Formats: sequence, C-alpha cells, structure tokens
Amino acid sequence: MSPQPQAAVGAPLSRVDGRLKVTGQAKYAADHDPVGVVHAVVVDSTVALGRITGIDTRAALAQPAVLTVISHLNAPELPNLDTPFERLLAFQDDRILFHGQPVAVVVATTLEAAQHAASLVEVTYDAEQPSTDLTEAPPADDPETYARGDADEALRSAAVRLETTYRLARNHHNAMEPHATVARWDGDKLTVWDKTQYVVGTQNQLAAAFGIPRESVRVISPFVGGAFGSALRTWPHVTIAALAARMTDRPVKLVLTRRQQYFGTGYRPAYEYSVRLGSDRRGHLTAVIHELRSETSRYETHMEPVLGIGQMLYTTPNVRQTHRSVPLDVNAATWMRGPGYATAAFPMESALDELAYELGVDPIELRLRNEPEEDPSSGLPFSTRRLRDCYRVGVREFGWNRRNPEPRSTRDGDWLIGTGVATGVYDVVRSAAQASVRLDANGTALIESSASDMGPGTYTSMTQVAADALGLTMRNVTFRLGDSVMPPAPAQGGSRTMASVGSAVQDGCDRLRQQAIRIAVEDEDSPLYGADAADVVVRGGRLHMKDNPAQGETYQQLLTRNDRGHLETLGTFTPPSGPARFSMYAYGAMFAEVAVDARLGLVRVRRMLGVYDAGRIISPKLADSQALGAMVGGIGAALLEHTVTDHRDGRIVNANLADYLLPVNADVPDLRAIYLDGEDPEADPIGVKGLGEIVQVGVAPAVANAVFHATGRRIRELPITAEALL
Ligand code: MOS
Repeated sequence: MSPQPQAAVGAPLSRVDGRLKVTGQAKYAADHDPVGVVHAVVVDSTVALGRITGIDTRAALAQPAVLTVISHLNAPELPNLDTPFERLLAFQDDRILFHGQPVAVVVATTLEAAQHAASLVEVTYDAEQPSTDLTEAPPADDPETYARGDADEALRSAAVRLETTYRLARNHHNAMEPHATVARWDGDKLTVWDKTQYVVGTQNQLAAAFGIPRESVRVISPFVGGAFGSALRTWPHVTIAALAARMTDRPVKLVLTRRQQYFGTGYRPAYEYSVRLGSDRRGHLTAVIHELRSETSRYETHMEPVLGIGQMLYTTPNVRQTHRSVPLDVNAATWMRGPGYATAAFPMESALDELAYELGVDPIELRLRNEPEEDPSSGLPFSTRRLRDCYRVGVREFGWNRRNPEPRSTRDGDWLIGTGVATGVYDVVRSAAQASVRLDANGTALIESSASDMGPGTYTSMTQVAADALGLTMRNVTFRLGDSVMPPAPAQGGSRTMASVGSAVQDGCDRLRQQAIRIAVEDEDSPLYGADAADVVVRGGRLHMKDNPAQGETYQQLLTRNDRGHLETLGTFTPPSGPARFSMYAYGAMFAEVAVDARLGLVRVRRMLGVYDAGRIISPKLADSQALGAMVGGIGAALLEHTVTDHRDGRIVNANLADYLLPVNADVPDLRAIYLDGEDPEADPIGVKGLGEIVQVGVAPAVANAVFHATGRRIRELPITAEALL
C-alpha cells in the first residue's frame, strides 16, 4: 500500500474539543444530571486507627430532604468477587485504617441538605495510636531487590566514593476536576458517569464489587479535568455512589470535596532514598547501591517501578538495590505522573551531579561518559536512544557553556544564579486496544474507542491519525471516547494511549481506506478500475492514483454509486508477545536556571528547557501542553509541594489548595520544549514512544542541581524550602 500523505499528523493543531471546553459545554462527571438525581456526601473518619463504636444518625435523618444515611450498620455485604484493584470496600465493617476513611454517606434530595446532615452524623470510635511516620516505622519484610556484579566489593575498591541520602515528600495530584461519580441503576443494570482514566477498569471493578456481569455495567466518561494518575483505579467513593443509588433507588451524585481528595484518593508516596556511588577518577561508575524506603498503606501495598532506572540508565557493572515498603496507618498510595521514574530521578541525578562536582567534571560530560551502548540491565539493543542528541541540542539551545562551573560564582544583584541538568527516562508502555471506524457515504468518518482523555488531547491526536489514514480533512472526522460500550482501550496511564489506541485507530483507518480502494479498483464504473490498489492514495476525501491526482473519485461518489450507505471496520493493536528484542525507553534532557536570594532563601526558577527523544510527535502543540505542564509539576515537586501529616493523629494538615502549595503563574517562567525528529519503528506501528510521563522525569533534580550551582548548598530533600537554604 502507498503511504498516505501526512497533513494532520505533525501539524501544530488546536484541540478539536477546545471550544466545548472553554464554553462550558464539555460535560465532566459531575455535570451529568440524570432525571431524579439526588446527592450524596461522605462522612469521613476523624481518627486514623481503631474501631467505630457507634453512629448516631438521628439528627441527620430528622432533616427534611434527607433520604438515608448509609454506614456499615445498614449497608449490604458486597460480594466483591475478584475485584481487579485491591481496595477498602465501602462500609463492610467497623475497622478504621486511616484518617478520613469513609464511615457513612448521607443521601438527600439537595446537596445543601446532604452537606448539613453529614455534619450532624455523630460517630464514636475506639481509637488507637496510628503509625504514619515513614522515618520511624519498620519496613515490611519482603523487600524488592536487584543485583548484578558485586557492588559492595566494587564500592570498597573504588577510587572515588559518594554516600548520600535523599528524601522526597508525599505529593498529591490535585487535578482541577474533583473526583466525582454519578450512579444510576435500571433494574440490575448500572450506569455510572465517572472521573476515570480507565473506563474498562472502572467497569470491571464495579461489576466485581456488586457481583454482576461486566456487560451490566456501563461507564461513561467523555471528559476528565486532569488526573495525573489519581483516576487510574477506582476509590471507595465510586462504589459508595453505586451502593447509595441501589439503596435509595434513585440516581446518586457524589463529588468528593477538595479536602476529601487528599485521603479519598491516592498520592505519590514519600521516600527515603540512599545512594552510594563508586567511580574511577574519570567518573566511570563502578558501583551503584540504592537502598530505599517508601510509604504504603497497611491494607494495600503500593510499589512503584522505582528501581528500573538505576539498572539501565548508566553503564555500571555492579549494581545492588533494595526497596522496602513501610506499611503505615494511611490511605493507599497510587501512581502519579512518571510514577517511580520521577521519584528515582531525584536521588540518582542529584548524586551524579554531586559526583561531577567532586571530580571536577562537567555534569553533562559525566553523564556522557557513562552512556551505555546497549541496555546494561538486559544486554538488549536500544530501539532508539538519543540521549546524547538531547544533550547536544540542549547545550546549544540553553547556552549551557556560558556558565561558570564554579558553584556560587554568578550573581545578578542580590540573586545567586545557577544552572543544572538532569536526565529523564521512561519506558515505552503499550497495551492491546481496539477502535471502530465507520465511513459514511457523505464522506465523514466516526471513530470510537473506550479510551479516556484526562487532558492530553486524545480527541485531537486520534482525529489527526484518523484523518491522515483515511485521507480526510480533520473537519470530516469525529473521534469519540469515554464509554464502555465502545471497543476496549487500556487505561490512559503510563503514556500508552497514543501508542496503543493510536495504533488501533491507524490500523482501522488503514483497513477501511484499503477496503474503499479495493471496491474502486474492482468497479468498472470507477475511474480507478483496474488500477493496482497499491498505487492509490486518498487525499481530501478523494481516492486517486498516487502519480496522477487527476485520475480518481471521492468516497462519496464511490459509495453512492455502489449503494453502500457506509463502510465499517474494527482496528486493533496487540503488543508483540514473547521475549523483548529491544530495550525501549523515551529519554529527555532537562535544563534549569534558577535565581536564589541568599538572604531570604527564596528560589525562583528563571527558565527551563526540555529536549526529548520521544519518538514521533503526532501533535506538537499538544505535546507542548504536556511538556510545559510537566515542568510546572516538576517545579512544584522541587520547591513547593508537600502533603504534611500530623503524626500525633494521622491527619493530613494541609488538605486544601491554600496550604498545599502549587506553582502559580508567578512561579512559572520561560519554559521551552524541543522534540528530536524521527520515530521509533520498533515501538509501535505509528512510531511513538509516549510523552506524558517522560516530560515529568528529571524536572525536579534539574532544579535542585541548579540550586546547588547557584548557592553551593546541596539540599537533599524535596521540596527545597526557604528554611533549608538559610
Ligand atoms: Mo499516569 S501516573 O500513568 O496517569
């Protein structure tokens, strides 16, 4: 088949759903109001550990408009068959496992009545002292480990040794849209409108929780207002909404409050991360030892892929790693943007920076000296690894060589100026996906897949892929997503949507185009009759000879003449099975310039540049939204974000957007992203490596390394606060 002309893919197009979003017409979960909908408000535990001894609902139930109060005292036992996510089920017993655990839900005909009545529910507890401090609590006794060579011996005999410990605060996703679920039962069938990154996952979870066939659950989620990982799985409120709807026989809307997001969903766990490095005098790493501890809840173990990056990023014959999870009386942790990788990048890339200054070697040069030729963890060739190019381009575009390498050597008035770099890496993740494609005789196409779009612009990027593969203009292609009745798609997580769903869309549209071309070349009345199908392309809805655009006809002419109201097909993508043949990762080089007021400890990021090797970029304008947004997130992690728990009672003390600090416009300066040209043909049929995570990885350590260069002070704890710098 002839390659299709590319018109939409690679063009910096605006979002096809942009107008819907900015005019308020895009419907997010809580915007759905099925007829007769009533409101649910969760009552959460005020202790972190113990048992419920009593729930007095009399005052709440006496309120007009209140329909019911549900708790473990009256909730039915849920069958909970093979739920895909381990979880704390709704109101199944009297045990309290974390501060803020749902203990009851009030359902009323108005939101205000439900809120007021929730405040009147009196819960008494038999409370115990919770353990919530990662630095104090003992770890579980099943660490995750990795070893190659003899790292301890290599460290002992190393010419240069470095030993440091880093700490990372707990971070919360804090997406703009709160988590929300609207649930309605029609007999034994359940429909939910939910904030989810994984339509099929929510469907499976609810089917299992209520013991009904998955076909009996429909999940609808056309728009998601940001999530960053927090909506990759269901949380108790999803089940509670469905339970409340069943018990009241009314559609129920449940929106978590801003405060409840902090314990009603997950978070990026806190870490203690010790690094020991051994190297020769030229900076070749000879030994790497990582020992780390991360927080997890007692009722679920959450272990992120935090070790892999230490095994494959740099050439080192000797590596030893131990990751211990520390069970605490806290709610469950979960994935947050660049999970594991973004965490590990801070200690790893900080330690490498420390080693560079110790050796007097430029930090970029030190990285290049340890750049492997093949994946040192597997011996596999890289599909594509252009980290050297990322640094080469970054050095030029950032003006890296203008710096004075000496720490604390550059001033601008009262401000100390510094620059820093860090490497980002994230693996290429792909999952099976399907998309239906339908071309109508009027020359418009509809493509559907049950994917989510939490904000990266999936509607737009899929429309671009489909438009080029079908040979239609963007205007004549509609892509729909976010409904479990559509063909299955994986979670929008791990940067896999473009590779997986995008490849399914490409496959379906390729098939459909070829189907139309076949009809034409076999149709005596077509100007393409008798042509070799491989020589026909489609452009602007018109099928024509590749080398003779004048010879051809439109989809409309072809389908109408052949009495075909429409053509349809199913596109699929299946990742290759069997042993991996390539090591596949996306890479990035992050550059940061900061100014630090040494008298006040204030850190101001002045500019950042990211250069990425992420394979083919389908949608450069949307890619910038990802990359610049992740720099904002990384500035937050580096300088501001910190979920603080009061270890006396296990309460999160800054569970609101006033006290949990996030970057605001004044914190976000000149940000720039550059994508290396090219594609990764091994990764998937459309050559993308995924972008959403890689852009987050390395941002925080680049800022931290710039703070060191500015001040000569190495802060080994995130966020870097003014106090730490004084
Ligand atoms: Mo991302 S943490 O995989 O939503």
